[in-house]
Parts: sequence; C-alpha cells; structure tokens
Amino acid sequence: MNISKKYSIGLLAVVMLLASCNETTKKEKMKEENTAASEKTVETSLNEADFDTEIDGKPVKLYWLKNGDLQMAMTNYGGRIVGLWTPDKNGKMTDVIIGRRSTMAYVDGPESYFGATIGRVGNRIAKGKFKVEGKEYSVKPNNNANALHGGENGFQDKVWEANQSNDYTLVLQYTSPDGEEGFPGELDAKVTYSLIDEHTLKIDYEATTDKTTVVNLTNHAYFNLNGEGSGTILDHKMQIFAEEFTPVDEGLIPTGELRKVEGTPFDFTGPHTIGERIDANNEQLKFGGGYDHNFVLGSQRSDGMNQAAKVVGDKSGILMQVYTEEPGVQFYTGNFMASKNALKSGAKDDKRTAFCLETQHFPDAPNHPDFPSIELKPGDTYHTVTEYRFSTE
Ligand code: GLA
Repeated sequence: MNISKKYSIGLLAVVMLLASCNETTKKEKMKEENTAASEKTVETSLNEADFDTEIDGKPVKLYWLKNGDLQMAMTNYGGRIVGLWTPDKNGKMTDVIIGRRSTMAYVDGPESYFGATIGRVGNRIAKGKFKVEGKEYSVKPNNNANALHGGENGFQDKVWEANQSNDYTLVLQYTSPDGEEGFPGELDAKVTYSLIDEHTLKIDYEATTDKTTVVNLTNHAYFNLNGEGSGTILDHKMQIFAEEFTPVDEGLIPTGELRKVEGTPFDFTGPHTIGERIDANNEQLKFGGGYDHNFVLGSQRSDGMNQAAKVVGDKSGILMQVYTEEPGVQFYTGNFMASKNALKSGAKDDKRTAFCLETQHFPDAPNHPDFPSIELKPGDTYHTVTEYRFSTE
C-alpha cells in the first residue's frame, strides 16, 4: 500500500467517523424531538366520568387514541369523535373538532350529529321512500318531508360495542336489526377509527346484510381548523377537487342533474375562502342557506382514492386533506348551527363556526338510478375508507 493510498483510507475513515457521529447526533435529535412530541399534552376540560354511563343496558365510555402528536377522544355513544388534537403552525395542540362535554349532552341534543357515525344511509332520502328489488320501503321523515341520516334514531343514537385494540385504534360494531328505521335486512356494521400515523385519521367502514338493502355510511365531524370555539370558518381556505356538484330542490333533495361548478360559487377547484361567495345571489346557496351540497369526486386520484378536499385554518395554519374511496363529499357550512349547544370549550355552536366534509355516495341515491348505487346484497361486503390527513403550512 503506498502512502497516498494509506492517507486516503485514513481520510475516508475520519470522514466516515464524522458522518456516523453526525448521524448519531441527528438520530438523537430526532429521538429528542419525538420524545418531546409524545410528551405534548392536550389541554382539555373533558372528564372521563362525564362519559361513563349505561344506555339501553350497554356501557358507554370515553376512549383516548394517540399516535405521536395526533390525539383523539371518542365515545361509543353514536360512534362519535369528541375531539381531535393536532399541532398548529406554532406547535400548539389544537382541538379541531366540535364536541360536547358529556354523554348526556349528546343524548339531550338538540344537535344529534356532532362527530357521529352516520347510518344506515347518510344525507336525505326523498320523503323517506325508496325501492329495493321492486319492493317499497319507508323511513319516517325526520327533516321536513324527508328522511335524513338514517331516520329519527339513526346510528348516531346507538351504543356501539367498542374494542380498543391498541393505543391508536378503536373498533366499533353495531348490529342493526331487520326493519330498523324501516330499512330491510339485519345489517352488521363495523367501523374502525385509527390514527395510522401522527398525521392521519383513517376511518374504515364495513357492513354485511342478510337481505338486499341500502347502505351509505359516513362520519359527521364538524371541523374548525382554528380550534373549537374560535369563531367562524368563513376565512378558512377551501379546495374541493370536484368539477361537478349535485344541485338540489328547496328540500335539499338532488334534482338528478350533475352540474359543472365552473363559473359558479361552487367552483373550489382552486383555493377560495369559504366565505368569499357564500352569500352570493345564487339559488342553490339560498336553498342550502350556504353550502350544503354533494360534490362529485374523481377528478383527482391519489393512492387509489379520490382526493376530496384540502382546507387550511387561516389562524392556525392547520391543513387538512381528505382522501376517500367514496364518489362524493357533502360540503356543509354549519348553516343550521344556531347557538343552541354548549361545546367543550364553553363556546356555543354559533352559525358557521364549523364545516363538514362528509364523504359519501350521493344523497337520495336509491331514487336516482343514474347515481352510483348504494345497494348491498347478502354475501357481499360494503367496504370503504376515508382518511383525514393533518399538517401545517
Ligand atoms: C348534513 C345535511 C345538512 C344538515 C346536517 C346536520 O350535512 O346535509 O343539511 O342536516 O347534516 O345538521
């Protein structure tokens, strides 16, 4: 070995040593950051005892899910997300979901849908009437002349059997008896809420039936990315990846048309604040009292899913992206919120202080053969996934 070769091997060793030291410090730093992150605690007034109760002889509890900095509180009463905490642009843990302080507050209402798992059929069925295999079924109207979110005592009122399989997963199961709320077939529903990493809430919905039926499950989280009780969501910047939406009549039932969003206040293909056009002179916005419409997804695909929406809280910098296997998303701007419910933060649910992005098949699907079908047959499994991914910008 000549001197220069020896020299270069020596140099290489020093470089490698330095690099590995550097690597160790980097790893240690990351470890420190991770430890610091996992030590982040959420400030909350929630008290487990206020959720501990029994309804219909079944135990109801508050469950905590955690994956690094993403943390979530749920109750098995209605399969509800009670709160969800993620860091804002300054690292402050922020609760981005509207919720209440006790099980009884949810039972007493008046709003029944905060954070709830919705079924058997999300959104409206015209006059509550529909046909399956030629036979007419009827769900008692609970929203003017129409049936909303599975009827009067939909899944939001059921006590789900809960199984927390690890720190970050809650499996909820409910068997809806044949004929419940007027729907045919015994439906076995299983919904898995999981914080799959420290940025992502994944909701995995599954159902089977013993008779042909209809099913369209969703979650009715009300979001405020600046934090629950921080004012309206009108300055949130929203993007919805839909070229079309399904216009409705006065009763918010789709007319059957798929209408281009282009040139209308429904065009969120580029970012707009929610409030920018919400009070525009537009018949559809008048019917909804703001946005309360189903957007047709599929124009943007990622990871085998439809990218539904991307929304940023103007104060917090919290960015939420919604991905789903569903063909539609109901964008609802809390137009019916009326300061009637006290929230966790002590604030009231004032008008437009939250928005919903309910991933779904289109409203009133059973009465529109052109819409993607929500029929489920015995032997088949209904399975669909939606993810809410959080970061900051
Ligand atoms: C859905 C509906 C709205 C409203 C809310 C619940 O988003 O489309 O019209 O009923 O649920 O208040």
